[in-house]
Amino acid sequence: MYLDFEDEKILAGEKGETRQRMMELLVALGKVFGAERLVPIRSAQVSGASYKTIGEYGLSWLSTLDAKAVVPAVLNPIGMPRRRWQEMGIDTDFARNQEAVVAAYERLGVLLECTCTPYYLRETSYGDHLAWSESSAVSYANSVIGARTNREGGPGALAAALIGKTPCYGLHLPENRVPQVVIEVKTKEEEWSIATFGALGYHVGKLVGNRIPFFTGICPDHDQLKALGAAMAATGAVALYHVEGITPEARKHRFSEVVLESIPVEAQEIAGIFREIPVEAVALGCPHCSPEELSILAQLLSGKQVTKPLYVFASQGVIDANRSVVASIEKSGARVYADTCMVVSPVMEQYSAIMVNSGKALAYVPDMCGALARIGTTEQCVSVATE
Ligand code: F3S
Repeated sequence: MYLDFEDEKILAGEKGETRQRMMELLVALGKVFGAERLVPIRSAQVSGASYKTIGEYGLSWLSTLDAKAVVPAVLNPIGMPRRRWQEMGIDTDFARNQEAVVAAYERLGVLLECTCTPYYLRETSYGDHLAWSESSAVSYANSVIGARTNREGGPGALAAALIGKTPCYGLHLPENRVPQVVIEVKTKEEEWSIATFGALGYHVGKLVGNRIPFFTGICPDHDQLKALGAAMAATGAVALYHVEGITPEARKHRFSEVVLESIPVEAQEIAGIFREIPVEAVALGCPHCSPEELSILAQLLSGKQVTKPLYVFASQGVIDANRSVVASIEKSGARVYADTCMVVSPVMEQYSAIMVNSGKALAYVPDMCGALARIGTTEQCVSVATE
């Protein structure tokens, strides 16, 4: 793999041991995946931030590093809201360990915005090269924005943040971004909600695995695209998808003229995913809520009181920029938490069944929280939480 003069100096250890180790990691990754060079990145998003997932081993590894990020880098959601962990019922020992993880990342110059929706906080543009690691963020960046990132592991994203570059292979190269299978959705899309697109993604992820799907027959908005991509990344390994006439690369290229395998998806296949089971709590914001999602929730909860715990997750930046909307949601007794989510917080493990409006959460809650998961529309979730 070609390295420039500066890269070679880093690899030789002239810029410190941590940078040398990080460059070794990037070079090793590049060799495995056949990269010819490194590419400068605009930002990084680093997973492996919840103590629930990285544990003591991950914390000790972080503590051995000593360098600063050279591009803007944020964290994935952690196991608790940093400002309100006691209110959420987080155990003191867990909080202490989680704070140690956060402090380790802060020492490395990673910004303490812990979110899977970094694109709401920091401008990310078409064609930008990134090193992001949370799968829904990767999917959104590639598909909805038209930026370029592979689905990095936590250490790979951190190495890229500390070096400012990532190996140029996979989805960084235009020839690897073309569709590989057509998903022909046969339904009346005006009836579709965020949850329906989540359920579609839940279903299609299983069908396509790691291929790049090209959707026809749907007309999702940005929040619906976010839900679709997040779910496909959870049940499959989809890091990029296109939607005819909607996503930027599908608008730019004539993908519909390429002859590919076509898989029809009927409305009843999606409807079958919506099963009614009793739940003990409701959790929204997977991926973290947009300002629009918070506004809709505030309207739906207006004048109501929750009778079951209703958790809402969003980034601190989005919460801070929408204080009155958040206050109006919390008037109902619901809680809007930053930094964490229903999958990476240990608090959700106390429930035996959780209702969500997300295909990704539907896929992950059973294994990560040990709870049954039910998907419903945002309206249905509010109705169940306030019934
Ligand atoms: Fe984000 Fe957690 Fe869902 S990281 S995509 S809210 S599982």
